[in-house]
Amino acid sequence: MNRYQDDYRRSLDDPNAFWMHQAARIPWFRPPTQALTTGDGGHARWFADGELNLCHAALDHHVDQGRGDQVAIYWDSPVTRGKRQLTYREMRDQVALCAGALQKLGVTQGDRVVIYMPMVPEALIAMYACARLGAIHSVVFGGFSSRELALRIDDARPKLVISASCGVEVDRVVPYQPIVADALRHSAHAPSGCLYLQRDAVRAELGPGDHDWEESMASARPVDCVAVAATDPLYILYTSGTTGKPKGVVRDTGGYAVALHYSMEAIYAMAPGEVFFSASDVGWVVGHSYIVYAPLLAGCSSVVYEGKPVRTPDAGAFWRLISEYNVKSFFTAPTAFRAVRKEDPDARLLAEYDITSLRSLFLAGERLDPPTYHWLKSHLQVPVIDHWWQTETGWPIAANPLGLTPMPTKAGSATMPVPGYDVRILDRRGEEVPALTHGSVVIKHPLPPGCLSGIWGDPERMAQAYMKAHPGYYLSGDSGYFDEDGYLFVMGRTDDVINVAGHRLSTGEMEEVLGSHPAVAECAVIGTQDPLKGQLPLGMVIPRADFEGDTTTLEQELVALVRERIGPVACFKQVLVVERLPKTRSGKILRKALRHIADGEAFDTPSTIDDPTSLEDARQAIEALRPSDDDAAAASPPRQ
Ligand code: COA
Ligand code: AMP
Repeated sequence: MNRYQDDYRRSLDDPNAFWMHQAARIPWFRPPTQALTTGDGGHARWFADGELNLCHAALDHHVDQGRGDQVAIYWDSPVTRGKRQLTYREMRDQVALCAGALQKLGVTQGDRVVIYMPMVPEALIAMYACARLGAIHSVVFGGFSSRELALRIDDARPKLVISASCGVEVDRVVPYQPIVADALRHSAHAPSGCLYLQRDAVRAELGPGDHDWEESMASARPVDCVAVAATDPLYILYTSGTTGKPKGVVRDTGGYAVALHYSMEAIYAMAPGEVFFSASDVGWVVGHSYIVYAPLLAGCSSVVYEGKPVRTPDAGAFWRLISEYNVKSFFTAPTAFRAVRKEDPDARLLAEYDITSLRSLFLAGERLDPPTYHWLKSHLQVPVIDHWWQTETGWPIAANPLGLTPMPTKAGSATMPVPGYDVRILDRRGEEVPALTHGSVVIKHPLPPGCLSGIWGDPERMAQAYMKAHPGYYLSGDSGYFDEDGYLFVMGRTDDVINVAGHRLSTGEMEEVLGSHPAVAECAVIGTQDPLKGQLPLGMVIPRADFEGDTTTLEQELVALVRERIGPVACFKQVLVVERLPKTRSGKILRKALRHIADGEAFDTPSTIDDPTSLEDARQAIEALRPSDDDAAAASPPRQ
């Protein structure tokens, strides 16, 4: 029997029965009587009359079932030379105390808590403590600037901000308190306080309204899990859209728990007691789902890594971690392995470690480019699996379901739609296209459990962004095709979202920042191919007619401005000051043509172009920026 096909068909033919069966496998305070109902705006609501607590399902329940002495998280931090492990019992007790501390600071059910922390166990403890109280966390990645943090504070309106005194990067310590303080100066909303974890590298000077993590924990009393409705939000996670305002993806509790639990078995083939390692960050969706929640829901141990694939100390870091913690399944972004391959092209460091515990390698965050796929296949004796998903879905949409029916992999493909996801490819008119034809990748309603339940504070935006383009379908924003065997190939975004080192960024937002500089009249930001990071942003600006300054200084100011406003994670390091940009006769900048020029690709001059000679100007300006052949050869190309 093909278990994948069986699950897939049942999940679409009778979603109620399929997901009720899966729901029965996690602990509820009040089990749901029905899986799927329809909420306002026609969105799926899962397990609406069920009650549970995710912290209970992931921690207390396992302790009660005899798993208390098993390690829940292994923390490994080469950047601070720190290592720690916490058992399920220790995690539960720490989380219960932290929940008590948050409660003392006024946090109650439904309140939002913004968490701006590095990869430390306390970040997970804080997230679980929120879940325990029924509070809604919103974790912000440490590589975002104070302005980005302020945007999120204003949107989520948190009761409390939880942070640490610093994050530690390879070559520098990043003090977080000044960033938080600056964000609070710029935000209209004022949380009632900030809780800081003090780290040795830099200590935060606490002022009025600031609280010390250790002291708060020491004086707190443990609190129990509250029952929340399955449809109550567990968290808000902001992600880049097409505008300057990030979208607050809202995740429910019950559907998410059921979907994650199912995925650990069906996709990742993990059994309780085994070790899962996802080398992401708690600030991204991969971190939320597969560092923090899913491994513990499934009774596994999770590796929490504060380090990089390379330089901490070398390109053998992943192999060391897999070997040291007996990792069974490892998950990271292709860019991380491009970095490893660049440093250690023949994977010589692999020979220094015993990685026989490893059974599978999963990659996501961007398309697994065939050269990296082949490199991994040639060095590892395990399935190398590309799987496709988004912040919005919270778990994979397409994958090779190792726990159901492992399938042969194909380079460049994320294999097949995961049970629950009815994936289709549509053309511009909304018609389904035949195999091997490119189109817009959409998901027919209803979305399975675990996917976004809304956009925080803006129900209309959910409909606008995802539902309007093709009624009855969720618009993923990605383009791709199915081959004759039903394998899905996801090729890239159809909007102005770019993917830099597995991080999703909005070029529209960068344009807003550039446009705010007083010397800039017009600008465009495009994503260009990069052999290491997949894509990098390139800005092109036309100065105002009265601009008399030095263009090099202006370029430096613009690079600094994007770093200050969005953060180092934007990797915005290239900007060109030009006299004109190619435009249509109606004045729209031809960004697609600029992208083709930057990537050295052939294209037809758009018929709507105002002045064809403007393309030649753009080509010359961009070509002057291109890396030399030597630089380009130093890394493997991201595409075939
Ligand atoms: N706090 C503060 N700054 C941070 C940060 C954090 N948490 N994370 C990254 N930054 C900074 C970096 O220091 C760097 O700053 P710089 O411009 O001064 O050098 C900048 O943001 C860009 O970071 P990054 O893209 O991580 O570049 P890198 O050169 O340090 O590392 C890779 C390159 C490929 C090794 C790294 O991007 C990587 O491991 N990517 C995997 C991504 C991933 O796991 N994505 C999750 C989806 S699965
Ligand atoms: P994020 O929401 O940050 O997880 O980014 C989601 C986007 O990353 C998707 O819409 C895709 O554009 C891209 N992406 C993630 N995983 C893959 C993959 N396996 N193949 C192709 N694109 C991917």
